Amino acid sequence: MRVEDELVVIPSESQQFRSIIECNELCECQISQCLNRRVQYGPRQKLEVFESSLYKSKGLRTTAYIPRGAFICEYAGELLTPSEAQRRIKIIDESCQMNYILCLYEHSKTRLITIVDPSKRGNIGRYLNHSCQPNCKILPVRTNCPIPKIGIFAKRDIFANEELCFHYAGEDNYNGMLNGKPCLCGSIHCNGFIPNTEI
Ligand SMILES: C[S@@+](CC[C@H](N)C(=O)[O-])C[C@H]1O[C@@H](n2cnc3c(N)ncnc32)[C@H](O)[C@@H]1O
Repeated sequence: MRVEDELVVIPSESQQFRSIIECNELCECQISQCLNRRVQYGPRQKLEVFESSLYKSKGLRTTAYIPRGAFICEYAGELLTPSEAQRRIKIIDESCQMNYILCLYEHSKTRLITIVDPSKRGNIGRYLNHSCQPNCKILPVRTNCPIPKIGIFAKRDIFANEELCFHYAGEDNYNGMLNGKPCLCGSIHCNGFIPNTEI
């Protein structure tokens, strides 16, 4: 895929997308011409897991330019119920392990929650670290199923060798709970702590 063919989901500062519905097998569009199918084709190329000196653990970086709004990869993993997530988080906290469980909230008439745990089954999305001033953001993306995939998109133009990171609590609805581990993101806007997974 050429850069100019990419699905760009953030066309302007004023127009904010909250979720994406991709074309699917029920659409009458021409698949070869359709620009509304990106997440369903999998992660972009030139992503690399590396030892991040900033975060003192593994991270994910790009070895090529990524334009603002482009899809990077899915945060893929096992889907959990809230009670199973709470059970696993208790074990993680008690044994001081890394926490990979991500809760995505969508607010409509009711609150939808999607909980993903990539710690045992997942993809490279699990290596993105948290930053208080991130270069990526997450969005719910529906393809053939009402349960959304968690898509990771470039929040700005990203250059080769930059580490990819997103705000674990979502910047828009950050609730100010700072009970997590100390944050190593190094941003001048750092809140001091990684946001807790709230269920
Ligand atoms: C989803 S994993 C990210 C990948 C992880 N660094 C690894 O080596 O597999 C989340 C874990 O990474 C670490 N981490 C992520 N963001 C961090 C940050 N801003 N400051 C300190 N540690 C962070 C924490 O241990 C957290 O539980």
